[in-house]
Amino acid sequence: MTVKSIAVLTSGGDSQGMNAAVRAVVRSALYNGLEVYAVQRGYQGLINDDIRQMDLRSVGDIIQRGGTVLQTARCEEMRTLEGQQKAAENLKKRGIDGLVVIGGDGSYQGAHKLTLQGIRTMGVPGTIDNDIPFTDFTIGFDTAVSIVVDAINKLRDTMTSHERSSVVEVMGRHCGDIALYAGLASGAEAILVPEVEFDLQAVAKRMRDNFEHGKKHSIIVVAEGVGEGENVAKQLTESSGVDSRVTVLGHIQRGGTPTHNDRVLASRLGDFAVRRLIEGDSSKGVGLVNGELVATDIDKIVTSKKPFNLDMYDLALRLSQ
Ligand code: ADP
Ligand code: F6P
Repeated sequence: MTVKSIAVLTSGGDSQGMNAAVRAVVRSALYNGLEVYAVQRGYQGLINDDIRQMDLRSVGDIIQRGGTVLQTARCEEMRTLEGQQKAAENLKKRGIDGLVVIGGDGSYQGAHKLTLQGIRTMGVPGTIDNDIPFTDFTIGFDTAVSIVVDAINKLRDTMTSHERSSVVEVMGRHCGDIALYAGLASGAEAILVPEVEFDLQAVAKRMRDNFEHGKKHSIIVVAEGVGEGENVAKQLTESSGVDSRVTVLGHIQRGGTPTHNDRVLASRLGDFAVRRLIEGDSSKGVGLVNGELVATDIDKIVTSKKPFNLDMYDLALRLSQ
């Protein structure tokens, strides 16, 4: 059985490149002769029946925009059977038999629940966190890392002038990838992530030693999952004697125009999701692994954890003497 009519929504935290993914889903569906609909505000819009038909022009001029033109929401009702039934019913009454969900692992679980209600679903990994397994990168991660690196470049200038240390708190709820990649790309002296135990006293000692040997600044990247950067900066100042200032980058990391990497990834994954639906697949999440497009059972994705790249973590520390 194949799909004739599909819908697309964005859900959970937004990420740069979601629009490029929406565009790819809509244009790929139309190219393949399907009807295509868009749902506004994620699962909340699905339950509220906020659904409209799309044409080629509906997704014009969005590939370069951050955020999501479909808007997004976190929806408690979708966690209930009643909510899931209502959501599926609103699709079925329009003859929509397939749904592409662009979001994180929570959104994938919602998609899986809709499969149980007779809707064929496909997940596209849209989150800055890079915490979805079975894809090397998620859509938005590359842009978020670029934003952090750009911010650290600026912080370096003023930290060097004042011979201070900069503690930069970055996003990534349970995943240290933003901290890891931005830290390696910025020459950070320490990268504190939830996946690796660390000793703040040892970080402070290394910082003090480095300053005594002529270092003029120090960058410490802290993933929000390990605690507040404010506390880290306070403890480092007390233990090292080096004035440590915190910068919390917050939602800045989720905005702005997507990088070409995120646009390319979003375009490839959005199109692939549609093609897999047409081929009869369902309840899968798409990804790019070692350059190959793959589709993996959502069940498997949401019960697995993405491995943390310890080699890269060690490299970052070795290079930042
Ligand atoms: P993300 O998709 O970025 O991980 P959330 O974890 O907030 O974001 O999930 C987004 C939405 O997906 C939730 O608000 C909820 O509507 C839906 N969702 C999450 N988990 C489930 C679940 N177990 N069953 C049904 N829907 C879910
Ligand atoms: O999952 C994406 C993310 O940006 C996380 O990195 C962060 O912890 C969370 O969303 C913030 O969510 P909100 O915007 O709802 O505060």
